[in-house]
Amino acid sequence: MKKYGLYIPLLFLLGCHPAPETETVSLRQPAHFVKLTADTLNPLTEAGIALGQQLFFDPILSRDSSIACVSCHLPERAFTDGKAIAVGVDGEKGFRNAPTLANLAWVNQGLFWDGRSPNLELQALDPVENPHEMDSDWDTVLSRLRQQPAYVKAFQDAFSIRSPAQIDKHLAARAIAQFERTLISSESKYDSVQRGEAQFSPLEQRGRDIFFDASAELPDAECGHCHTPPLFTDQTYINNGVQVSHDLDAIKDRGRGGVSGIRYENGRFRVPSLRNIALTAPYMHDGSLPTLEAVIDHYDSGGHAGPNVDPKIRPLGLSELDKQALVAFLRTLTDSAFVETEYLVQ
Ligand code: HEC
Ligand code: HEC
Repeated sequence: MKKYGLYIPLLFLLGCHPAPETETVSLRQPAHFVKLTADTLNPLTEAGIALGQQLFFDPILSRDSSIACVSCHLPERAFTDGKAIAVGVDGEKGFRNAPTLANLAWVNQGLFWDGRSPNLELQALDPVENPHEMDSDWDTVLSRLRQQPAYVKAFQDAFSIRSPAQIDKHLAARAIAQFERTLISSESKYDSVQRGEAQFSPLEQRGRDIFFDASAELPDAECGHCHTPPLFTDQTYINNGVQVSHDLDAIKDRGRGGVSGIRYENGRFRVPSLRNIALTAPYMHDGSLPTLEAVIDHYDSGGHAGPNVDPKIRPLGLSELDKQALVAFLRTLTDSAFVETEYLVQ
């Protein structure tokens, strides 16, 4: 009871109840994912999620209104773009591959390949002003938003603001973050098998056993140590030998080391989720591996040697059948309902 003591008089004072739109909603959390507690700093509301979705799909966030968030994060590709390296306004190439946005509500060890952003609310500020992405600035974007009555209304519904002048970049980012938290992928064949509702084919089962080092007769590929279910990432920062890194000072993309300033972390990147991996080619932070077969060949070879390459990355001795089996298993992580969701945007 004591908890409400503060709020009730406050509501009387303001003479209002929250509008139905601003009532918080809870995230549909898959039973087999870690339970998230309700976010008190940016509580989810129907109106906030709807506004975030609108912003995510709207090219007015970019300098010349040519690209939206969705241009590089396409729902049908599990929110990736099919390109090795993302391309922004004026064909400006960035440095890295666009990652999936599935299950980011559970990512809590840093966003981006190098983990430089602590949460979705801060991450969403970056693309708008990134010269390799939307190449705009928030002042421009905010003045555009304030001029559109539909957006003014949407911000009022989501955040109870009283005038268009109160629309700011942090509210826009909060709405985008709310929308992103609803992008949950947990209904693949893998999940059905886990629940006992489906069975792997013999090839998929072989791949699963190799992935999780689960059979004495088959090689141990170590995959499951880093790509741990249910998210298929343990969210650590690892050098998996994909780039040349024998000299840690000469490394092309320093990744985690570029953020932490720790030399030994140069060339480390966040272990990416493998959910919907069959839909998100090309692969790795630099998009250097075009297919799943190429990824398996990379791991089988042991990759480029380097002082901080993880010891689990080593020649695996996989047969052709083992490789096919691993690819077949990875394909069971595709969640068709997730990628076929249609987003209605006015
Ligand atoms: C030009 C293509 C492009 C556009 C436009 C773009 N992104 Fe991205 N996005 C990327 C790339 C590339 C990365 C990875 C960059 C890195 O790690 O340094 C990324 C990373 C992210 C991440 C981090 C995901 C993770 O797993 O850590 C989020 C979240 C995200 N983008 C959301 C957005 C939002 C929201 C917008 C619009 C405001 C947007 N993106 C616009 C290309 C794009
Ligand atoms: C020691 C930890 C580790 C092990 C073991 C490991 N991975 Fe990875 N995996 C990573 C990291 C880190 C990346 C991202 C590296 C980068 O982009 O520089 C990655 C990337 C990938 C990607 C590309 C994902 C994307 O979105 O681009 C696939 C696919 C993949 N791994 C599959 C596997 C498979 C299959 C195995 C077992 C044969 C495996 N991994 C073993 C750490 C690991």
